[in-house]
Amino acid sequence: MEGRRPLIAGNWKMFKTVPEAVSFVQELKQAAAGFKGVEVAVCPPFTALVPVAAALRGTEIAAGAQDVHWEDRGAFTGEISPVMLKDAGCRYVIIGHSERRQYFGETNELVNRKIKAVLPHGLVPVMCVGERLAEREAGVTRQVVHDQTVAGLAGLTPEQVAGLVIAYEPVWAIGTGKTASEEDAQQVIGYIRAVVRDLYGSEAAGRVRIQYGGSVKPGNTAGLMAMPDIDGALVGGASLEVDSFLGIIKAAAGGRAGSPGA
Ligand code: 13P
Repeated sequence: MEGRRPLIAGNWKMFKTVPEAVSFVQELKQAAAGFKGVEVAVCPPFTALVPVAAALRGTEIAAGAQDVHWEDRGAFTGEISPVMLKDAGCRYVIIGHSERRQYFGETNELVNRKIKAVLPHGLVPVMCVGERLAEREAGVTRQVVHDQTVAGLAGLTPEQVAGLVIAYEPVWAIGTGKTASEEDAQQVIGYIRAVVRDLYGSEAAGRVRIQYGGSVKPGNTAGLMAMPDIDGALVGGASLEVDSFLGIIKAAAGGRAGSPGA
């Protein structure tokens, strides 16, 4: 796995008030101290970002946002800029989640624009790709993730691509309890890495981290993480309780036995 440190990130979606979010991270930072083989991040709703990032300061757990606007500032009512995310203490930002694509009309071009907007601020994009059920059934999974990857990363340098995170989240596996099999997830993620290799070279392909997301639970984490191209998980439902999120972190750290701190 060429030294890639897996990233276990919790996407809280539209859940948790500020007190709930802060008490979660207070508990998590005690419990998760010492799992050196994996990196951990939580992505709260915007309202909880500042207190969560403040509570995590000095720990190895990072804060991330779930979306971002592509301009640094301006008359864009209701939006949050990369400058504001940096200011709030974010390291990561999820871009192009399937729920944004499905309910808010986000396109590959918009995803690309947002990725380009956050990189100059030192934020790490977590670019989501993944096919819908009808696309999987039609046998076009590779075509869909290919097009999302190519368009989403267009115009980036190999160095920029090497530093980012891609999350493969098959839409039919999100919140449904249906996980892609380890082999299926590995196949698609290996394919995404090959697409990156074709476009940006082996160095970038060897360094870019590619997560799996979609009904990840403590019980299915180790198997997924044992796959050679899967570098962590983007977790929805199971990231909302400390116990289950911690179970995933532990399982992922165990799956990378022999590489503590790598
Ligand atoms: P679930 O883990 O609830 O399936 O959600 C996955 C997801 O959308 C993470 O971004």
